[in-house]
Amino acid sequence: MISSLKGRSFVSMTDFSSDEVLAVLDLAADLKKETASGKAHPRLAGKTLAMIFQKPSLRTRVSFETGMTQLGGHALYLAPSDIKLGERETVEDIGIVLGRYADIIMARVFGHPLVADLAKHAGVPVINGLSDFEHPCQIMADLQTVRERKGRLKGIHMIYIGDGNNVAHSLMFGAALVGMNLTVVTPPGFEPSGAVLAESQKIGDGSGAHIEVSNDPAGAAKGADVVYTDVWASMGQESEAEARSQKFKDYQVNSKLLSVMHKDAIILHCLPAHYGEEIEYDVSRLPNSAIFDQAENRLHAQKAIMVALSGS
Ligand code: CP
Ligand code: NVA
Repeated sequence: MISSLKGRSFVSMTDFSSDEVLAVLDLAADLKKETASGKAHPRLAGKTLAMIFQKPSLRTRVSFETGMTQLGGHALYLAPSDIKLGERETVEDIGIVLGRYADIIMARVFGHPLVADLAKHAGVPVINGLSDFEHPCQIMADLQTVRERKGRLKGIHMIYIGDGNNVAHSLMFGAALVGMNLTVVTPPGFEPSGAVLAESQKIGDGSGAHIEVSNDPAGAAKGADVVYTDVWASMGQESEAEARSQKFKDYQVNSKLLSVMHKDAIILHCLPAHYGEEIEYDVSRLPNSAIFDQAENRLHAQKAIMVALSGS
């Protein structure tokens, strides 16, 4: 199954089929064990990953770079000021040139078409390290985390509370692909894209996943197995932060919300967190919080993605 991924890009969650997502998650679990045992194989020896960043990052940068080192390869960091994606020269030329040097490209961008265009022109696999529209690597790590904590993905009931943007979009696709039920709860006006909802519901028809949107946190949370949240104002929306904090104030993961969920419900956050806004600090430190497992699993999930796309 994984051989089907050789040479392909991972720009959207929907670039992987249901079987491919599950196969990559299996590989991620194997690589995690292999790393812990100290017997890692240098599967990407001699390969180079070029990492383009238009936005800041802690997890994405460090997990990709560390992952490449653990796999025996090399990663190079291209800061926003280094190549000025889309300003200094065309995205097409950057893709072609980088594809002549690097074996894999990862890009964190504002506009989603930038990473899609790189994938069109690079001739090597391109991985989306977050765009304004999707964050698929995050969702692979999240699915790995839920499977570790709950033992399965199919039939799990997750709620996502927050802005219906990049993380929510990839989560909707990811849940649909693995048969997980998901309610995305947002303040009115911050719902996810209608096209993503329609596409994820269509995928869900095949996997048995029920994907829906709501504006009612307490109603959606009843009996849920997992709650996931993200910042109210994403990177690039800093000037809206104050206005958003009013509109999102009733959309917080706190002890009151947890009280209506399943007693063993787990808590997820992609990080960085703004404690006291989208999540209470004390809730983030409960034993059922898996937020730092998610951060760690970025490393393992992305190593699996890079190995699969390289066909190694
Ligand atoms: N979750 C995530 O992508 O974190 P960074 O922005 O630190 O990479
Ligand atoms: N929605 C957030 C996710 C950060 C990992 C952002 O885009 O800033």
